[in-house]
Amino acid sequence: MRKPVIAGNWKMHMTCAQAKEYMDSFLPLIGNDFQTRCNVVIAPPFTAISTMSRLVAGSSVDLSSQNVHWEEQGAFTAEVSPIMLLEHNVKYAIVGHSEPRKYFSESDEQINKRAVSAQKNGLVPIVCVGETDEQRERGEAERVIRRQVEQGLERTDPDNLVIAYEPIWAIGTGKTCAATEANRICSLIRSWVPSPNLVIQYGGSVKPENIDELMSMSDIDGVLVGGSSLDPKSFARIVNYMPN
Ligand code: 13P
Repeated sequence: MRKPVIAGNWKMHMTCAQAKEYMDSFLPLIGNDFQTRCNVVIAPPFTAISTMSRLVAGSSVDLSSQNVHWEEQGAFTAEVSPIMLLEHNVKYAIVGHSEPRKYFSESDEQINKRAVSAQKNGLVPIVCVGETDEQRERGEAERVIRRQVEQGLERTDPDNLVIAYEPIWAIGTGKTCAATEANRICSLIRSWVPSPNLVIQYGGSVKPENIDELMSMSDIDGVLVGGSSLDPKSFARIVNYMPN
């Protein structure tokens, strides 16, 4: 049985003070019952991880980083290592998000090194894949996603990771991928990865209005939420999804 993972990616939002205010409102809205249905994860910016580690203590909310380096330490200015995250009880690490792929030219090879090292150190990588608008229009979406999945997952244990299918044209644009199309791609990804336990999320303009439909799809095992995870009420509604 695959347990859905509902994750909020705060991106470059939330000071420590804002995170505290957010959690004061969010935790009572989700209660404790969600644990029987799904795992709930928040990925704050690095500066709020220590504060968030204290704020989630005693709840069943897990923490993710928004990236992770492959070395344990060294001369890698601006990077954060797996052991630094483990010190704050971080459980997951997003790797290969389309924003660092685009703005910092992250390659599939680097993303793979991050995923392998995260697993080796006991973190669960959330490996993001997805095509651009142009790639989709040219009919290249499946080939691009397959390359990202194959190269990103090389030498990893597929039983111990999450894949997030995030079509780039649906991120932060308000354009949602139709639930049936998102499900089709997630099911394709599943056919390429030899693990019955693989959790595959959808991400891209997920909101309270579309969560129930997305979560009723057979191959969508959760969501990775950007904008709508910044409002505690919206994200709580997403956590409290009601599949059709
Ligand atoms: P939005 O939900 O804001 O479209 O962002 C999706 C995303 O990039 C999550 O990682």
